[in-house]
Amino acid sequence: MNSKNALSYPEMVAQATAYLQAIQADFPDKAIILGTGLGNLVSMIDVEVEVPFSEIPNFPVSTVESHEGSLVFGSIKGTPIVALHGRVHLYEGYDANQVTLPVRVLGECGIKTLIVSNASGAMNPEYRSGDIMIIEDHINLTGRNPLEGPNHDAWGPRFPDMSDPYASELRKIARVAANDCSIPLHEGIYVACVGPNLETRAEYTMLRLMGADVVGMSTVPEVLVARHMDINVIAFSVVTDECFPETLQPLSLEDVLAAAAKASPALSTLLIHILPQL
Ligand code: HPA
Repeated sequence: MNSKNALSYPEMVAQATAYLQAIQADFPDKAIILGTGLGNLVSMIDVEVEVPFSEIPNFPVSTVESHEGSLVFGSIKGTPIVALHGRVHLYEGYDANQVTLPVRVLGECGIKTLIVSNASGAMNPEYRSGDIMIIEDHINLTGRNPLEGPNHDAWGPRFPDMSDPYASELRKIARVAANDCSIPLHEGIYVACVGPNLETRAEYTMLRLMGADVVGMSTVPEVLVARHMDINVIAFSVVTDECFPETLQPLSLEDVLAAAAKASPALSTLLIHILPQL
């Protein structure tokens, strides 16, 4: 897996796990991945310790400037949490095992619930930039799978169940909280593509026909690994662009970041409300 130090993948995970456990003896049982443009959600955390990814053995470091990289330990309104401030993507050239190593490590450190956030483009014509969608289910169109290869039985089963990957009880908690806080919340299907290019109009038409509401370039590998380890998952997608074939506009990274920033306050409010119930 890694010819430089010739460690097996489980050994790489074990090394990073030991490093983090030495830093944080009392490990939180909830983790959050802060997606593209949502890094400012870190401001809702009362930070205790921040560890750059580059200091954690075997952690992948993002090659994209808009994705910062550090692990943040702290609490949100008294609930202990660890945040992945930034993530790496398949399109950077990392394989599915590298992309998901942080989730494996957090799983080994004992997290029970993973909250995922991401940026996505909407094919559903009812959705608008800046809207928030809770992911009900996903379609993996990446052609990659972090569970390929020999199964490490200590982590989970060979054939993990995917009948309810985004736990229906957790989605219900989010719907109730959104309603209580008067935050509009869609619930729909996320399809993952590798990227890095945005899709063509013909591809958006196909993805919509498949039943997907939004498309993005992350989340699915991490969720597959979390479910393999029996970690509960709840995931929010922030719509950063409208992918309607008839009216498609060119999109820049600045547009994506601006739309994500617009949705951040509502997503923060929602997270603060649901966190104690997860
Ligand atoms: N396609 C894929 N990924 C994305 C998009 C998109 O339109 N918008 C934000 N992430």
